[in-house]
Amino acid sequence: MPKFARRISNMQASADVIRQLFESMSDPETISFGGGAPAREALPVEKIHDIADEVLTRDKRGIQALQYGNPMGLPDLRQAVIERLLKPKGLNAGMDDVLIVSGGIESMNLVSQLYLEPGDVVLVEAPTFVQAVQIFQLFEATVIPCETDNSGLVIEDVEAKIKKFSPKMVYVIPTFQNPSGRTTSLERRKALAELGSRYDVIILEDDPYSEMRYSGETLPPVKSFDKTGHTIFVNSFSKIFSPGSRLGYIYANNDIIRKVYDIKTATNSHASVLAQVICAEFFNRGLYEPHLKKIRDIHRERRDVMMECIKTMLPDEIKSVYPDGGLFTWVELPRKVNTTSLLADALAQKVAYVPGREFFVEDRDNHDNCMRISFGGILPDKIRIGMERLANVIKKTL
Ligand SMILES: Cc1ncc(COP(=O)(O)O)c(C=O)c1O
Repeated sequence: MPKFARRISNMQASADVIRQLFESMSDPETISFGGGAPAREALPVEKIHDIADEVLTRDKRGIQALQYGNPMGLPDLRQAVIERLLKPKGLNAGMDDVLIVSGGIESMNLVSQLYLEPGDVVLVEAPTFVQAVQIFQLFEATVIPCETDNSGLVIEDVEAKIKKFSPKMVYVIPTFQNPSGRTTSLERRKALAELGSRYDVIILEDDPYSEMRYSGETLPPVKSFDKTGHTIFVNSFSKIFSPGSRLGYIYANNDIIRKVYDIKTATNSHASVLAQVICAEFFNRGLYEPHLKKIRDIHRERRDVMMECIKTMLPDEIKSVYPDGGLFTWVELPRKVNTTSLLADALAQKVAYVPGREFFVEDRDNHDNCMRISFGGILPDKIRIGMERLANVIKKTL
């Protein structure tokens, strides 16, 4: 058989992490804090049923939904993105600056196709979102981690690494980061946008969680401080609408969007028009805002229950991140605990999480004592049961 392309072995390690993650979630008896899915109860099934029913039979939208579409995406969905999602963040986009993609992850793919040559450097947060790393590696980029703390990327380290490695791109998830649940401070957001402009580096800002805020004050995106067009803002409808619909968007200067349009046309034509029509109707009918309130309430309760369980069930020496939103918290156990070997014991007790080392590109052994815990997809009562199981496993090891 012919050999697989070199890029496949490049991304193998991160691909293995993702595969294991999906496998750990397949046992129905295991309470898995491993995945990144939003609550089932947060999916607007009935509303979508009504919209789909009407849309397919009325107003000729049925024909539109089933026909080829424009690579930019449906005009009324782009309008909804501009008015309802970007404007409230202080971002003033024009219709030609927004392109609809097939899920947030596709944005990383398209932007990588546009910018990355083999051997180019991409700076990422340590820890970071594994699937993004997988994509950068598919394009044979060298992925280099930068230091983070409770306020996000450490700017001095990013600047030093920009000087040292001349990266093409810095990839950042500033709000309720996956996997750490941390949020980048206002000053650092400004500083990141400035670094992009000063050193001619793309800042790829990934923002799938900012709408899912349950406490604390909203912060403006990095993109709002971008004066030169170096920041590309990408987002997803997965958490605020439905992950199965595979919709997201890219907001960038029009000269970048025009190139992304060409790549999207060549590789995937356009995002599903059926999904776009339904999503646009969801916004047009005023259903989004009450839905957002509902999903915030659902996930806030889960966050609260999870943090209460961590506080009351785990020993005091264990540290955790209190996330103001999103789906994740990050737990740091004493150094002597190895969360990869602990996972076997946890799985035997029918509870799962993701070992922290999987989210690091380098120096993984140093993070063997960490774990990512996702609370979004689990009912509050089950969170309590799962955390009791996990606490017992941890206490036994300690
Ligand atoms: C940081 C981050 N970026 C992007 C995504 C994109 O998700 P999707 O492709 O489902 O829209 C996710 C989903 O888990 C994520 O955690």
